[in-house]
This record gives sequence, C-alpha cells and structure tokens, in this order.
Amino acid sequence: MARKQSFHVALDLGTHKTAVLLASMNEDEPHVVGLGTAPSAGLRRGVVINIDATVQAIQRAVHEAEVMADCEIQSVVVGVSGSHIKGFNSHGMVAIKGHEVTSSDIEQVHEAARAVPLPADRHILHVLPKEYVVDEQEGVREAQGMAGVRLEARVHVLTGSTPVVENVIKCCNRSGVTVSQVVLAPLASAEAVLSEEEQELGVGMIDIGGGTTDLVVYQAGSVQHTAVLPLGGNHITNDIAAGLQTPVAEAEKLKQRFGSAVSSGVRSDERIEVPSVGGRGPRVLSRQILAEIIEPRVEEMLGLVAEEVTRAGVEGMLTSGIVLTGGTANLDGLAALAEKVFHVPVRVGSAAHSGGLGDIVSGPAYATGMGLLQLAGKTSSDSVMSPASAGVLSKVKNRMGDWFREFF
Ligand SMILES: Nc1ncnc2c1ncn2[C@@H]1O[C@H](COP(=O)(O)OP(=O)(O)OP(=O)(O)O)[C@@H](O)[C@H]1O
Ligand SMILES: [Mg+2]
Repeated sequence: MARKQSFHVALDLGTHKTAVLLASMNEDEPHVVGLGTAPSAGLRRGVVINIDATVQAIQRAVHEAEVMADCEIQSVVVGVSGSHIKGFNSHGMVAIKGHEVTSSDIEQVHEAARAVPLPADRHILHVLPKEYVVDEQEGVREAQGMAGVRLEARVHVLTGSTPVVENVIKCCNRSGVTVSQVVLAPLASAEAVLSEEEQELGVGMIDIGGGTTDLVVYQAGSVQHTAVLPLGGNHITNDIAAGLQTPVAEAEKLKQRFGSAVSSGVRSDERIEVPSVGGRGPRVLSRQILAEIIEPRVEEMLGLVAEEVTRAGVEGMLTSGIVLTGGTANLDGLAALAEKVFHVPVRVGSAAHSGGLGDIVSGPAYATGMGLLQLAGKTSSDSVMSPASAGVLSKVKNRMGDWFREFF
C-alpha cells in the first residue's frame, strides 16, 4: 500500500452499485488500473437515504480499488444524481472595461449569470456557458480578445439540494476519503459516451441506471437541457418479481439473462425456468411472458423521457439521435424500442477503454465513472495526492463547474 502515484479517482455512487475507478492519465484518456465495486444498499433513486450502508459500500469499493492498484486513495471526484437536480437557463451582462474582452470580464459575466435567487437549501453545482453575445454579435464561443462594449453570457445553471449533496460528502469523509470535486453524474456520463460531432450537431444522452434515468441534451457543443427522473432498472426488476411471483434477486437474474424490451422479437417457444417464492418448485414459462412484462415498463420510462424532451422544447435538437447508456442499456432490444418512442436513430454508448480492465469499464454501467475521470483529468493534476480538501460543501464548492468554464 506504500506506492503513491499520480492518479485520478472517480467515485460513482449509484443506486445499484458503488464504483471506484482509479486511473492514470494517458493524453487526457484515463487508463484504469484499479476498480472496486460494491452493491449499493444506502441509496434510493440516486439519493443517500442510509449513511452507514453507503459508507460501508464506499469503503469496500475504495479498498478493492486500492488493493488492485497498490495505491492509497486520499480524495475522489464524486458524482451526484437524483431528481433534486434542477437545470435552468440564465444570462448575465457586463460592460467590457477596456473595449476588449478579458478573462476578468468573462469571470464577471459568469458571476452575473449565476446571481439568481435560490432557496436557502439549494446551491449551484455547475454553470455551463452556452454562448456569449458581444454587442449585437450572437453565438460567440470564444469571447476573450473580442472588441466591444457589452458582454453577455447565456448559460445553463444546474442546482442541487444542499443537504443531499452534503450527505454524499459526509459519506465520503466517513469512509476515509475527501472530495476534491462534486460533479453532476449525467454530465460525466455524457462526457464519456458522446462524440464531439454529436454534441455539436445535437444529441440526447439517456443514462438508465438502477434508480434514475438521466437526460442531457447537447447542441452547438453545449448542454442545452438536463433532467433526472426517479425511475430505473430496479423498477423493471420489481415488475418482473411481482408479475412472475419470483424473489427480486431471481427477477434480476432473469432480466439480465433472458430479458428483452421487444416482446415481438422473442420466439414464443423459448422457455425459461422461473424460481418460485414460499418454497414452491420452479415453473417453466415462455420467455415471451418475461418480455411482455419488461416492454410496457421500459416504454413507460422512455415515454416519460420523451415527455420531458417535449416539455423542455428540445426535441428539435436531437439531430444526431439518442445515445443510451447506464447498466439498463445492456437490456436486449432497448435501442430498438427507443427508436420507436423517439423516432430518431438510437445507439448504445459506453466509454472506450483499451487498458487491462477494458472489458469491464467499457460497459455502459461504467460510463459515469469513466466520465468523472475524464472531467477530473481536464483540470486537476492529481486527485490521489492532492492536499486533503476539507470534506464540507463550502470548501468543495469553489471547484464545482470550474473546468466547464475552462474548456468552453
Ligand atoms: N444485461 C442487463 N439487462 C438488463 N438490465 C441490466 C443488465 N445489466 C445491468 N442491468 C441493470 O442496470 C441497472 C444498474 O445500472 P447502473 O450500474 O448504471 O446503475 P447505478 O449507476 O448504480 O444507478 P443510478 O444511476 O440509477 O443511481 C440495474 O437495474 C441492473 O438490473
Ligand atoms: Mg448511475
């Protein structure tokens, strides 16, 4: 445990699993050398509801990753999710002091854009610039150095519930690690699975995990809309357990092995063995019955995302379609069903990774973890060795969203 190297560490605190990814960076690409996972028992719909259970899962995952990489983890970049996350568009305006935009003008216009009244229990997680306007010139990406007298920033602001985020940080600290950055998990997933071309043309990223379904819409290289819905793969599993009268753990196995989101694609003569509850013997049922339970639930989940897209008025932005990720994206037929719901091309996306753990971390369930590493790599040089940042929100707050400003 003595060897200390310069690594980035991501903590994805999911409803289904807690994952710690430890990576060295190779030209901005994370090379994962340590991975630890533990089932999450302390979260519901992306939010911590049991501190002790969450701490245990983090400790287990951290320990596993430390042993694998032979490193000591001190601080992590942690992802937060849950339907408490709210995004809205805002703008700010300042006078350009020296008739040419400087970095200090840009800082000030961001400050102006984030100066929105918020309830006492909410705070800003990220301020994502969409475009600048210099005098009458709209659609400016890089304002610094431009001549003008008035600078306006149009931004997307993401806020979270302060107690919810504080609980995440508290769990990390009690587990023996400090938090260097708090990042909205869907932004991390989008970073991992979307190409620059897709972000430019317009695309929707949907991360369907165990307890949440996250949506991020990009266009013109910027985040245009975000939403977190409190639905995920666990709901499909529960439906299977209730519908087939089988224990939840067995329903989970059936879903993963034999599940499909398109019942018409499953042959009616395919049979599966379904364990029973209460000591009764297993039954042999048609695999199509399983798909008939899964399909309407998935259709409902995707339908709610489609409603959100319409409500936000961003359906016209999905020019290059939709990219599905998160563990539930492994479900057979999901992309086909999503194409029917959204009427755009759909693909399943995950982070490319060529290292030794590539077969695991390039699965869609690790998109958030991989994205957290990529975003961490864009700013801080080291999240293992960095001086221990205090584990309270006030101290972490300064780092939130900073890199988005940097690489816009
Ligand atoms: N082959 C598969 N078929 C169907 N579902 C799958 C498959 N593999 C994993 N899943 C589902 O993926 C979900 C877990 O996904 P993931 O690991 O992305 O969740 P999470 O990040 O822990 O949760 P969340 O992001 O919602 O807080 C579970 O519901 C699991 O059943
Ligand atoms: Mg997740």
